[in-house]
Amino acid sequence: MDERVFNFSAGPAVLPVPVLEQIRDEMLCLPGAGASIMEISHRGGPFTEIIHSAEANLRKLLDISDDYAVLFLQGGSRLQFSMVPINLLGEGQSADYILTGSWGKKAMEEAQKEGQTRVAYTAKGSGFDHVPEQGDLDLDPQAAYCHYTCNETIEGVQFNGEPDTGGVPLVCDASSDFLHRKLDISRYGMVYACAQKNAGPSGVTIVIMRKDLAERSDANLPSYLSYANHIKEESLGNTPPTFAIYVVDLVTKWLLNDIGGLDKMFEQNKTKALKLYDVIDAHSDLYKGHAQPSSRSVMNVTFNLPSDELTSKFLGEAKKHKLEALKGHRSVGGIRASIYNAMPVEGVDALASFMKEFAKNA
Ligand SMILES: Cc1ncc(COP(=O)(O)O)c(C=O)c1O
Repeated sequence: MDERVFNFSAGPAVLPVPVLEQIRDEMLCLPGAGASIMEISHRGGPFTEIIHSAEANLRKLLDISDDYAVLFLQGGSRLQFSMVPINLLGEGQSADYILTGSWGKKAMEEAQKEGQTRVAYTAKGSGFDHVPEQGDLDLDPQAAYCHYTCNETIEGVQFNGEPDTGGVPLVCDASSDFLHRKLDISRYGMVYACAQKNAGPSGVTIVIMRKDLAERSDANLPSYLSYANHIKEESLGNTPPTFAIYVVDLVTKWLLNDIGGLDKMFEQNKTKALKLYDVIDAHSDLYKGHAQPSSRSVMNVTFNLPSDELTSKFLGEAKKHKLEALKGHRSVGGIRASIYNAMPVEGVDALASFMKEFAKNA
C-alpha cells in the first residue's frame, strides 16, 4: 500500500497530516539542532525547549494550574495501572474502581497485586454497554482514591462528565479520549493517558497529577516508579522518549493553532460521531450498536453485524474503499471505528456512505 488510507485504528492511531509533514521536513535537521530529534541530548537546549513547550501547550489547552505537575513517562498506561496503587494506596487503605469496560477491569486487576481494591460500580453484567449515573455509584468515602476510565476503547462507552467522589481523589485513565474535549482538571487528583491515540505516537504517557498527592510516594520506591521522583526530576530522571515528546509538542501546537482549542475540537468530534451513529440507528436491523445511546463514545464507535460472515464481508469491502483497521478488538469482535481528533471528517463521511451502501446490498 503506497497511498494513505482512512485509518480507523484504535491505537497507535491516525495523526494530523500537518504534523507528519513537519516531522518529515525536520527529520534530518531539527531547526537549531543540526541533527534530528532522535540524535540530540535530552539535556541540551533544543530538547529542553521542546519538552517545556509540550508542557506549556498542555497547560494552555486544559487550563492546568501550578498545583498540578505534568509528567512525560514511559511504560504506557499499563504501567500507570501499577504506579497508581504503588504510590497512592497506603498500607491498610482501599481504592475504589468504577468498571465500565475491559481497561478499567485490567487497571483494577493490577491494583489488586499492590493492595486492597473495591468495586464502586461494574457494568459487566450488561456486557459493559453503559456508564453509571451518579446515583448508581457505591463510593467509599474513606477510599485512598477512586479510579475510572472515561472512555473504554474496546467497548466504545464514554462518560460525558466526571463522577463526583466527594473528597476522594479521582484518578482517571483518559488514554483514549485525552484532548478530545476540555476537562476541568481541578476535579481530578490525577489524569493519565498514553499518547498513541489522540496526543502523539506510542512511547510516552502523559500524567497530570495534583502535586500534594505525590507526597504519598514512599521514599524507598524504585525511582522510576515514584511520582515524587519524576516531579522532582521534571520527567528527566532517565532518558525520556524524546521523539514521542517532540510529536506531542507538534500535536498540541496543531490543536492550539490549527484547530483553535479543545472546545472547537470537541464540536468537530461530536459532529463526526453523530454521522456514524445516525447510520447505525437508521439501519438498526443490520448494525447493532454496542453502547447504550446515552453512553456512546465519540471516539470509538462499536457495532456488530448479524453474523461473522457479514462482518468479514463488511471488512473486506471496506478495505476496497480504503477504509482500514475497522475490525473490533479481538476480545469482543464486530466492528470498531476509532475516530480520534486527527480523523478527517472526509474519512467519517466515506465510512458513513459505505455503511449506507453496504446496508442497501446486504
Ligand atoms: C483506555 C485504555 N487504557 C489503557 C491502555 C493501555 O495502554 P498502553 O498500551 O499504552 O499500556 C489502552 C490501550 O489501548 C486504553 O485504550
